Amino acid sequence: MCKVKKCNTIEFSYCKFRFINGSDLNKFFGFVEVFCGKNKNFKKNTTFAPQNNPICMYALITGASKGIGKAIAVELAKRKYNLLLVARSEEILQKLASELTQQYGIKANYLALDLSAPKAAETIKNWCESKQYELSILVNNAGYGLWGWFEKMSLEEQRNMMQLNMNVVVDLTYVLLPLLRQCAEKTGQQSYLLNVASTTAYQAVPTLSVYAATKSFVVSFTRGLRCELQNSNISVTCLSPGATDTEFSDRAKMTDSLKATAQKVNMTPEQVAQIGIAGLFKGDAEVIPGFINSFSAKMTSFAPKSLVEKIAAGIYTKHL
Ligand SMILES: NC(=O)c1ccc[n+]([C@@H]2O[C@H](COP(=O)([O-])OP(=O)(O)OC[C@H]3O[C@@H](n4cnc5c(N)ncnc54)[C@H](OP(=O)(O)O)[C@@H]3O)[C@@H](O)[C@H]2O)c1
Repeated sequence: MCKVKKCNTIEFSYCKFRFINGSDLNKFFGFVEVFCGKNKNFKKNTTFAPQNNPICMYALITGASKGIGKAIAVELAKRKYNLLLVARSEEILQKLASELTQQYGIKANYLALDLSAPKAAETIKNWCESKQYELSILVNNAGYGLWGWFEKMSLEEQRNMMQLNMNVVVDLTYVLLPLLRQCAEKTGQQSYLLNVASTTAYQAVPTLSVYAATKSFVVSFTRGLRCELQNSNISVTCLSPGATDTEFSDRAKMTDSLKATAQKVNMTPEQVAQIGIAGLFKGDAEVIPGFINSFSAKMTSFAPKSLVEKIAAGIYTKHL
């Protein structure tokens, strides 16, 4: 039997709080989740999750130069994981690797690479093997969105997004699973896979149609793989953030008015990373940080699809 979805949130009547600004509510519950998650994680430490990495194992994070990926790198550095940072911006990666090395006394290396380029996964695998890194955590985080009418956006750009958000996740997982397994066998400790999806995965989102579909793919792939690996020494988790204050909206080419709407429920990348990493080490199937995000994602499975799509269209299309 697969482990059923556990969300690290406290259930509350939303109605009671509807007069509170959505961002505050998400941030408040984010704080509660971070606090509770840390305490629960601490209790579980001895049995399942290493709070601190005792034997110098490595975590590889894609999209580690900014936003959520960078915040995840910091969370893992705090737990004494050595880091392998992958993204395109070489200077930023170099600076981050050196800062984290100094601040947390870990080892950090980086690879500046366009992950959507052919054979990117193979390049990463060869890099890890040639340096003999003990890979214990893989975080598939790199990704981006494109906002607009499907017909009006470039097909080439949308295909590139599909390549990065889906194919690269599958390729990298495929080539690095043997290294995760090998490390777990050698150290006798659990290895971890964290795939970053999005709350847009739980319903169709007009004007983010292709992006939302790529993230549905990530959720489905991750849940399937989790079941396949349930009796192994690799724990698989999907992290689905909602609106988060990063460069995502700029790259998605969102207008200022849509960004302002998103800001009402925005969480910080640090909150998302703290909740995500706590969930990863707890062995959760899916983590949806933030009360409003978690509540809305749950509601989509009960409400009629046409209604949910209408609401999503109302939020996103009026800003075009
Ligand atoms: N922010 C949100 O509201 C939100 C909500 C739900 C889910 N997410 C998901 O969270 C993940 C992280 O996004 P974010 O919000 O942190 O966005 P971000 O600030 O734009 O960061 C994206 C990261 O991915 C890297 N990246 C982008 N294209 C790449 C490529 N072709 N090859 C290698 N690295 C690449 C970027 O680095 P370089 O530019 O240096 O390459 C950067 O480190 C994404 O999968 C996104 O879909 C975000």
